[in-house]
Amino acid sequence: MNWLKDPTTQLSQPGACSAAGMPSESGPRGTKRLHSRLCNTFSFGFAVLAVCAALSGTLYAEDLPVHRIENIFQPTSLPAESLSFLSVLVLAICAGIFVIVAGLLTYSIIRYRRRGPEDDATEPAQVYGSTAIELAWTVPPILIVVVLVLVTGRVIGEFSAFQPLGNNEEIRIIGHRFWWEVRYPRYQVVTANEIHVPIDDRTQPAATKLILESADVAHGFWVPKLNGKSWVVPNYRNEMWIKPFKTGIYLGNCTVLCGPQHANMLIRVVVQAPDAFYRWLDNQQKPTVEDPGVEQGRKEFVENTCGTCHRIQNLAGADGTFGPDLTHFMSRETLGSGVAPNDKEHLHSWLRDPQILKPGCLMPNMKLDDREVDLILAYLRTLK
Ligand code: CUA
Repeated sequence: MNWLKDPTTQLSQPGACSAAGMPSESGPRGTKRLHSRLCNTFSFGFAVLAVCAALSGTLYAEDLPVHRIENIFQPTSLPAESLSFLSVLVLAICAGIFVIVAGLLTYSIIRYRRRGPEDDATEPAQVYGSTAIELAWTVPPILIVVVLVLVTGRVIGEFSAFQPLGNNEEIRIIGHRFWWEVRYPRYQVVTANEIHVPIDDRTQPAATKLILESADVAHGFWVPKLNGKSWVVPNYRNEMWIKPFKTGIYLGNCTVLCGPQHANMLIRVVVQAPDAFYRWLDNQQKPTVEDPGVEQGRKEFVENTCGTCHRIQNLAGADGTFGPDLTHFMSRETLGSGVAPNDKEHLHSWLRDPQILKPGCLMPNMKLDDREVDLILAYLRTLK
């Protein structure tokens, strides 16, 4: 089961999968015992309900395919395409070298093996100072290295000199232990862990520049189908751009060991058609939903000091930046940077004690009682 990376799979039982329009492939990935225990508690009825919710659009805005296999050989964005081509070229050259060397070695081992005691008395021909042999093992390797250097240099040069045309977005991505802050400075939108970007199509070219920063330790940003890996380090800005040409949800990981929950600092890049992307942005720009029915939950949120770490726009006492911005919390599909689906059950578990789903994460157990958990849960669920 691959629900750590793809909560929608977790909710969809076999059969329900195709009904939800989700691809039913699933990769063998390690899951923690705790997670599988929680996962097994789902009843089929709940799965059906969740799928219905997803279909009716209450849970997820859009039914995009999840590109689950992080394969650098199936690129869907321009830099990843060049990198994939480069990787294939390097692999092909190395495979050729391997076949020639291993072939000659195998041939020599068989052809010149010891055949009997009579071989012990004689010595093979000793060759010294053969210009032909010296040239054969120095010139081709030098040429191969020169070819690799030139091709790699050209790809790197193309990336660094890239000046995208058309309508370009700029996103600041800030690594935290153990989640990603995502900022759209032009729109004053702040979200977390799920990065929405527009697709690049011929009629509306759109590249997205990602500015990568860290708030604490060194992290690594990698969404293999979209671009190569980049370090994300404190006090320095790395930049990369992507030009994805296929809609869908792309998964990525933190690639630098940054602490106990390094493996669960998952990235979801949601590549959308321009109209869907701007609709999403529009919703993110809207003021916080203020539902009078959950007034008590809002009060509990502030009184339990949740606002010290989390910001909710226009809520006095909730302007923390240590944890994710919760203004449009329900527009996200996952909790805890992709560790669980953003549904009632998991949110309940998270509020009760975040250390159950994500042991070692920096949100402590706030020791909320049942009443407080229910009230805050109801409040958070209104933040669409
Ligand atoms: Cu962040 Cu590993």
